[in-house]
Amino acid sequence: MVVKKKISWRSLVASCLGDPDIIMAPPQKPKRKDDVIKKQSSFQRLSVLDLSNPSSNTLSEDLSISLAGSDLHKFTLGELKIITQCFSSTNFLGEGGFGPVHKGFVDDKLRPGLKAQPVAVKLLDLEGLQGHREWLTEVMFLGQLKHKNLVKLIGYCCEEEHRTLVYEFMPRGSLENQLFRRYSASLPWSTRMKIAHGAATGLQFLHEAENPVIYRDFKASNILLDSDYTAKLSDFGLAKDGPEGDDTHVSTRVMGTQGYAAPEYIMTGHLTARSDVYSFGVVLLELLTGRRSVDKKRSSREQNLVDWARPMLKDARKLDRIMDPRLEGQYSETGAKKAAALAYLCLSHRPKNRPCMSTVVSILDDLKDYNDIPMGTFTYTVPNTPEKSVSDNREDEGRVRESNKARKSHHHRSSPTANSPRTKSPTAKSPGGGNHRTTLRNGLNSPMRNEAGGERY
Ligand SMILES: Nc1ncnc2c1ncn2[C@@H]1O[C@H](COP(=O)(O)OP(=O)(O)OP(=O)(O)O)[C@@H](O)[C@H]1O
Ligand SMILES: [Mg+2]
Repeated sequence: MVVKKKISWRSLVASCLGDPDIIMAPPQKPKRKDDVIKKQSSFQRLSVLDLSNPSSNTLSEDLSISLAGSDLHKFTLGELKIITQCFSSTNFLGEGGFGPVHKGFVDDKLRPGLKAQPVAVKLLDLEGLQGHREWLTEVMFLGQLKHKNLVKLIGYCCEEEHRTLVYEFMPRGSLENQLFRRYSASLPWSTRMKIAHGAATGLQFLHEAENPVIYRDFKASNILLDSDYTAKLSDFGLAKDGPEGDDTHVSTRVMGTQGYAAPEYIMTGHLTARSDVYSFGVVLLELLTGRRSVDKKRSSREQNLVDWARPMLKDARKLDRIMDPRLEGQYSETGAKKAAALAYLCLSHRPKNRPCMSTVVSILDDLKDYNDIPMGTFTYTVPNTPEKSVSDNREDEGRVRESNKARKSHHHRSSPTANSPRTKSPTAKSPGGGNHRTTLRNGLNSPMRNEAGGERY
């Protein structure tokens, strides 16, 4: 790709603010037929490699042709400004390694046939850590894979150097926000198991697709939640096609998030579907314990969740010690034992001992039937340490990217309209049905470190 000039998303917003016509302009009807991509005749899923030159100037056209049939909408930058009210700060949802995410709204005034709905618009930060390739990978995978447990990609924008993704809006934000936000009510046990089941079903779908996909970035922040807590996987920038033919694994540079990536993958770069199963085990452990996979605020023995908790998962008497105190004992004992045993297996050091995702899903299916949950009143526990945001504790998570840019430090930010620190009932909906986010994020994408604490890449 020839980059003519480097414009950051901030300057884009600034230019937008300086151009009131854009805000005032009525939504434009599409001028060209190919704005809505037409049906793809073949069922064979295409990969980034199928594009003749994934970084060429003709990419936008190539993509339209390759993804015909995906019903993806190709938006212009001008349209995105209309959708997000010029990326206004009141619509700001948060920011990860890719760039800022804004809430917006689309309807058929923008495109005939486009369902009126809220959307999340993710804009590639051109000075950030992730880049064109991850954007393209995401468009290629999510443009072609459809499932109730994968977030729906509605469209994208590829204009000059700008790269944007437009998703369905997920009212309850990420599992990370829901599980670790300090001043929200604790997620009830049954909701946690529903989320685990939904996310596992999403992974199962990927692993069992005609051309299997390894997701590679399974973690709490990439599991988004619908209003009824249906879990949907998002962020396919690191996804990979699974091994072909007799190959047992795919060889890659090690990328992923510290605390979630499987040990053998970190050691060898050999990626298999069982690496995703390990990451699933980590998230299941987070759901059981209410603790982050890596938490440098804890004593050294407890900083790495898997190291600390795994030995206790098989011992029913010790299980009590690791269960999330915010559950206040209100969980099915039988269910917790089964879930703990499942997490233990998923976290096996030997990938072959880990179950496949269909087994995981069927075990989680059974958990729904255990209703030995003690009845009790909901009590809110006031934290006795100063408030920390959801993402403050992410400062020690590491993420490794192929690009050298990944070595730069990065700051995650969240909405200035974030949640007020107030208790809510477990069923309370946030105003407007939206999930509010608090906090400053930082350092998520610092390079992955090895066990000795040294930088691996
Ligand atoms: N479809 C969506 N609906 C609602 N909120 C979303 C959606 N997609 C992303 N968000 C929110 O936007 C924020 C940034 O998300 P993003 O995926 O870019 O970063 P992240 O997952 O926090 O970090 P990472 O870069 O590791 O993926 C998060 O708070 C996330 O919950
Ligand atoms: Mg994410």
